[in-house]
Amino acid sequence: MTAFKLAAIPGDGIGAEVVAAGVEVLEAVARRDGGFTFRVDEFAWGGEYYKAHGRMMPEDGRAQIQNHDAILFGSAGHPEIPDHITLWGLRLAICQPFDQYANVRPTRVLPGITSPLRHVHGKELDWVIVRENSEGEYAGVGGRVHQGSSLETATDVAMFTRPGVERIMRFAFELARSRPRKLLTVVTKSNAQRHAMVMWDEIATEVAQEFPDVTWDRMLVDAMTMRMVAKPQSIDTVVATNLHADILSDLAAALSGSLGIAPTANLNPERTFPSMFEPIHGSAFDIMGQGIANPIGTFWSSVLLLEHLGEDTAAQRLMKAIEQVTADPEFHTPDLGGEATTVKVTEAVIAAIRGANE
Ligand code: IPM
Ligand code: MG
Repeated sequence: MTAFKLAAIPGDGIGAEVVAAGVEVLEAVARRDGGFTFRVDEFAWGGEYYKAHGRMMPEDGRAQIQNHDAILFGSAGHPEIPDHITLWGLRLAICQPFDQYANVRPTRVLPGITSPLRHVHGKELDWVIVRENSEGEYAGVGGRVHQGSSLETATDVAMFTRPGVERIMRFAFELARSRPRKLLTVVTKSNAQRHAMVMWDEIATEVAQEFPDVTWDRMLVDAMTMRMVAKPQSIDTVVATNLHADILSDLAAALSGSLGIAPTANLNPERTFPSMFEPIHGSAFDIMGQGIANPIGTFWSSVLLLEHLGEDTAAQRLMKAIEQVTADPEFHTPDLGGEATTVKVTEAVIAAIRGANE
């Protein structure tokens, strides 16, 4: 029997509540499957750790999780600590050195959930957004000088490398090819950004030659927001830069009914380092500790985790259990307009896993 080593990093805010629920559900699905188990190590890193130690994770933090098979992450963000410190000190401090360059964000309208788009029920909205996750606008290149003077200057340089763009394009074309419609939209802004975004477009055209069976088109990011709302059925797989995809994936999550259900995989496709799975929603301090956080985003992220580990049967079983539970409004948390608690949704998903047929 395979025993997977799972690193659980709850982080801040509702992260603790949803990661605890996610671990329970992963253990339940492993028990139901019978072919694998999880050995879970929990790492209490984040805002509270920062207040005690002056950093978000220990200096050797990455070494502590480097040999795990996967990471389940909650959220980073703390009301008393600037956001750029919590982000760069934990989430990006893991994603970037572990070269998790492909951030994958599926979006669907799950059964029982209402999209704010009229006439969209299920099939009309089935997307996967691939977010470049290692460079671009999040490269961390830039600086700030003459602080406090009237000449104060600050720059954030969006940095794009040929290998970085080639690998994300190839990843996106391959993912598009694996889906029934074989359809990819490359998001760009090469009308205004005439260096890196022009290279981005050129590399997309080059890589496309390797995938003659994939239909692809190019779309400016501003026009893409309109297309997502006006013609959701015309979209399947999407690839975009770090910042463009960050923004588009929030729109996608909202159009699918709630940010509370949206999942993410931060993948290191070469498997040199562990990959990390997390709900898209943040730490949500306004509802922290109330027991009403929606755990579905973490459960769906756990489906992606199981797929990455090659446990496809278990992944499908968990996805089915999630859909069975969302179909019943009784199990909707307040973000979906219901009154269910995190525990109630978690118990329902575990019951559905237990009852699921082969
Ligand atoms: C996301 C989030 C993060 C990001 C925040 C928390 C910094 O919005 O995962 O989409 O911008 O990458
Ligand atoms: Mg975001």
